Amino acid sequence: MFDFSIDFPLLSHMEIKKFFDESSRYIMNTYNRYPIMLRKGRGIKVWSSDGREYLDFVGGVAVNILGHCHPRVVVAIQKQAQRLIHVSNYYYIEPKIKLAKLLVEHSFADKVFFCNSGAEANEAAIKLARKYSKEHAGTDRFEIIAAKNSFHGRTLATLTATGQEKIQHGFEPLVPGFSHVPFNNMDALRKAVTGSTCAVLLEPIQGEGGVRLPDQDYLKDVRELCNEHNLLLMLDEVQTGMGRTGKLFAYEHYGVAPDIMTIAKGLGGGVPIGAMLATDRIASAFQPGNHASTFGGNPLGCAAAVATMETILEDGFILDQCNRMSKYFIERLEELKTKFPGIIREVRGKGLLLGMELTREGDPVVRACLEKGMLINCTAGNVLRFIPTLILQRKDIDQLIDVLHGILSKLI
Ligand SMILES: Cc1ncc(COP(=O)(O)O)c(C=O)c1O
Repeated sequence: MFDFSIDFPLLSHMEIKKFFDESSRYIMNTYNRYPIMLRKGRGIKVWSSDGREYLDFVGGVAVNILGHCHPRVVVAIQKQAQRLIHVSNYYYIEPKIKLAKLLVEHSFADKVFFCNSGAEANEAAIKLARKYSKEHAGTDRFEIIAAKNSFHGRTLATLTATGQEKIQHGFEPLVPGFSHVPFNNMDALRKAVTGSTCAVLLEPIQGEGGVRLPDQDYLKDVRELCNEHNLLLMLDEVQTGMGRTGKLFAYEHYGVAPDIMTIAKGLGGGVPIGAMLATDRIASAFQPGNHASTFGGNPLGCAAAVATMETILEDGFILDQCNRMSKYFIERLEELKTKFPGIIREVRGKGLLLGMELTREGDPVVRACLEKGMLINCTAGNVLRFIPTLILQRKDIDQLIDVLHGILSKLI
């Protein structure tokens, strides 16, 4: 059995510095990393190689739904690793079938395609939408309307779908067949529909774009527009799915069902796995040979995801806790806003996908939090984002608020 007390020797500052140097020397320069090396995590806590303790409100960027090294996920991985780590999709495996059944039984969908990441799930969705529409709506139907400020991934098609020039810059020519409209604006969306449109792709709540929520009726209106024009509604729930917003999937808040949905991040409790879900009608456009992924839905990822999903669904405790903590977290952030009206513009979000928009750059606050033992994230330049484990406690929130209070006091 897994030894939960497992520990590793601490490293000296010289040893850590050597790793930092080797990281720059051997790893491509695609991330600005903060100067800490993490070695261990439990629940909301992580520890660095020099022995410091941190509260993690980043959660692997909305991945660690159940916190770090949740015992059920660890045991599931361990058991599966002893049994079978990988086999080809040419063969049946139990954890994949179990996971697909769980996902179908708890969503609008009838069928699942498994992959390894959010971008890969969106690639699959884009391909399925094009294939279905060409076959059922007309050979000239291939265009997808997405939202400005959205984020759908870093592959060529998904960065084209992403409505942010900074993500696309340098990678032109982009993939043909995408257009963008302002999020939460029905008039703009209506005007953007042409005879070539096949689908609308949206995040129910924009995460990377700065935690932006739509009006309550927006997605319902989008659904109606899609029905009217025979368009597919594709929801990217890579960040919002798996209980992050207080319901298993964010679309449940808005009383709509998509035709296609993508998930990843929280699905495997930290193990890389993604999925694209669809209704039978749409899914039937994919036949053997149309799409594939060597590692997609491999035994290890699926076993971790089954454990994660069963834990989330069991007796509703985790979603209840997420909603309780969300309410308390928002109250405490609003208190800060009242105290620092010149620094905090708005507090927003759902469940434990929360954002606090500042009137200035957020990175100095992130760095100051790090110094004080708090990992937080900043997105869209000035939005502090809090995306911790759903099994958060009031005392964790209180500690963060105290630290933020101290930091913001010095900024006035
Ligand atoms: C809404 C959304 N879609 C897609 C992605 C891309 O996921 P991945 O990084 O797993 O490819 C992300 C990642 O942040 C995301 O937030």
